[in-house]
Amino acid sequence: MSGTCLYEAWGGLEFSVRTGSPAFENVHGQGLWEYLDAQPEDAAHFARTMGSSSGYYLSDILEVHDFSAARLLVDLGAGDGELVAQVLVRNPRLRAIAVDLPAMAVHTRRTLESRGVSDRCEVRAESFFDAVPPGADLYVLKAVLHNWDDEQAAAILRNCRAASAPDGRLLVIERVAEDTGGTLRSVVNDLAMLVLLGGRERTLREYDSLLGRAGYARTSHGTGAHGITVIEAAPVP
Ligand SMILES: C[S@@+](CC[C@H](N)C(=O)[O-])C[C@H]1O[C@@H](n2cnc3c(N)ncnc32)[C@H](O)[C@@H]1O
Repeated sequence: MSGTCLYEAWGGLEFSVRTGSPAFENVHGQGLWEYLDAQPEDAAHFARTMGSSSGYYLSDILEVHDFSAARLLVDLGAGDGELVAQVLVRNPRLRAIAVDLPAMAVHTRRTLESRGVSDRCEVRAESFFDAVPPGADLYVLKAVLHNWDDEQAAAILRNCRAASAPDGRLLVIERVAEDTGGTLRSVVNDLAMLVLLGGRERTLREYDSLLGRAGYARTSHGTGAHGITVIEAAPVP
């Protein structure tokens, strides 16, 4: 997470702290996702980073959430697809749709194929701001909401809410920030989101408030041994 174009963006840390805007855009002249779309080598590097992070947190996620009841899962901003692939491997009756931008969808497809589950997962190269596949019983947003400010994060959640079946569930999977103070790690993560994307880390209360703005209410949450939290939410009727 600190190599290539990301390292260069950190040189603009002071700009971000003074303005509250992402230094990445200031340094590279475009946002991270647009940049990756034009730079396949950096996109491949980013995808590998996301994939190894999903591998690291997989046991936490499987420990906190039981995916066995789901029939159709939609993974929004699926990245290199490691999470959805591993969930499919463990749940043979599950089908999935993975959504990500074109530059990343290439890597999502490759991972699903290498894990032998591409026949049960459709990959859609599109933006979750434009469309969210309707009717799934489980929507997953892992390490996505922290990339965005509150307005944009609420817009993504509203699109999920509009697409969800009434008894559908949403999983928001993030490293949740502490209520007060904050460990060095969560402060650095928060700065990374600001510098790279103009996003932010949030406390559980802040996630609750975002969910509420989009017509969801938290039904449960749990944090695994590696420190990632799975928040489950249901549409408010
Ligand atoms: C921090 S990565 C997380 C990837 C994956 N969920 C994981 O945890 O490994 C955020 C993902 O959101 C995707 N993304 C960004 N903007 C998007 C958009 N408008 N529509 C769909 N995906 C988007 C990026 O391409 C990237 O793969």
